[in-house]
Amino acid sequence: MGTKNSRIAGFYQLSPQQRLQEVKSFDGLNETDLTMLRGGNGVLSVERADKMIENVIGTFELPLGVATNFRINGRDKLIPMVVEEPSIVAGASFAAKLVRESGGFTTSSTRSLMIGQVQLVNIAEPATARETILAHRDEILGLANAQSTSLVKLGGGAEDLEVHYFPTSPTGPMLVVHLVVDCLDAMGANAINSMAEAVAPMLERLTGGRAYLRILSNLTDRRLAKATAVITPAALARPDMSGEEVIEGMLHAYAFAAVDPYRATTHNKGILNGIDPVLIATGQDWRAVESGAHAYAARDGRYTSLSTWYRDEQGNLVGELEMPLAVGIVGGATKVHPAAQASLKLLGVQSARELAEICACAGLASNIAAMRALATEGIQQGHMSLHARQIAMSAGATGTLVDLVSEQMIRERNIKPVRASELLHELTDVFV
Ligand code: MEV
Repeated sequence: MGTKNSRIAGFYQLSPQQRLQEVKSFDGLNETDLTMLRGGNGVLSVERADKMIENVIGTFELPLGVATNFRINGRDKLIPMVVEEPSIVAGASFAAKLVRESGGFTTSSTRSLMIGQVQLVNIAEPATARETILAHRDEILGLANAQSTSLVKLGGGAEDLEVHYFPTSPTGPMLVVHLVVDCLDAMGANAINSMAEAVAPMLERLTGGRAYLRILSNLTDRRLAKATAVITPAALARPDMSGEEVIEGMLHAYAFAAVDPYRATTHNKGILNGIDPVLIATGQDWRAVESGAHAYAARDGRYTSLSTWYRDEQGNLVGELEMPLAVGIVGGATKVHPAAQASLKLLGVQSARELAEICACAGLASNIAAMRALATEGIQQGHMSLHARQIAMSAGATGTLVDLVSEQMIRERNIKPVRASELLHELTDVFV
């Protein structure tokens, strides 16, 4: 066992620079390591980051790419994507080009309704308690709405209340009150949590029970965004396969995800490959969307594909993705992170619903790219060149050497760290 001690009293009170020094002595990092951890050369200054979360020592950068070719409801969009994985931006752009040939994506969305939950236990008469809560509906909603006057002023806020009864649980029976809140253009977590906390004492008084958890639900199944794409066989045709054959393969790929949770998980990961990067670029809580997406995928009791695919009467491939997408364009990191602000501006979105619909399109596009590749040449082919570049870089190649090493490895079909090092040595000898 080492002697390292992660109990650093008062760490949170130090400046980011002082915290870095603490981290340095904790793990014997050198100055280069510290420079890497500090980051801060980008648009998000360490000072600003220090106001966003706790115990900040620096900032961490990721590539920001822009997906092209998207046409959504007749309007062209460039989509900012922040992600570390090669091929995602290229795949989404490629798929958007295929969809563009038949006019582009069409979208729709529900209102921005979210649920705040209050858990009530130790209730002697659950049925009576339920009636009492419902009889005081307006009072409870009024108290909830007093917490978020700005939301109410704009036409949103808590608008309904439900009571759910769980007769058995590991700790006994419980009532769960749902506040249904229209969050408009906000993601809404803060407003909902404040509302849930504010009404809890009233619910305790009304029921004689004890309120424990007071928190939003991330299963936002009343805040859905939908994207639809049509792809013609001609757009999918390849030298080695007709468009019809590709569609056949893609429908088999979908069918696999529809019936098998092991496959559905990976299929849905491919969808979220397109969505998470847009969420990160625009300063959203991507963990919230991820958890909601997976819960929604299991809403019928068995985890399945978030997208559905079929062949229409003209023989086109049609895909639909409908899923919870709790995003906001006001408040949170969208306001604090300068790059998130600029990303939202690039997207030109006027509402949270519009942003959610764009995310759905990016997700469907990623799904298309993955299914097409999987149903044809396989996923590795497309990954090869970026993968080779990464291997070349991790072997120490910089500048033009990255291209030279990676191209040679692809030619040799031998993309391995050992080969990258060998090539790097050979080429460095030539160039020096
Ligand atoms: C890899 O990041 C994503 C895929 O695995 C998605 C899929 O299998 O559909 C290619």
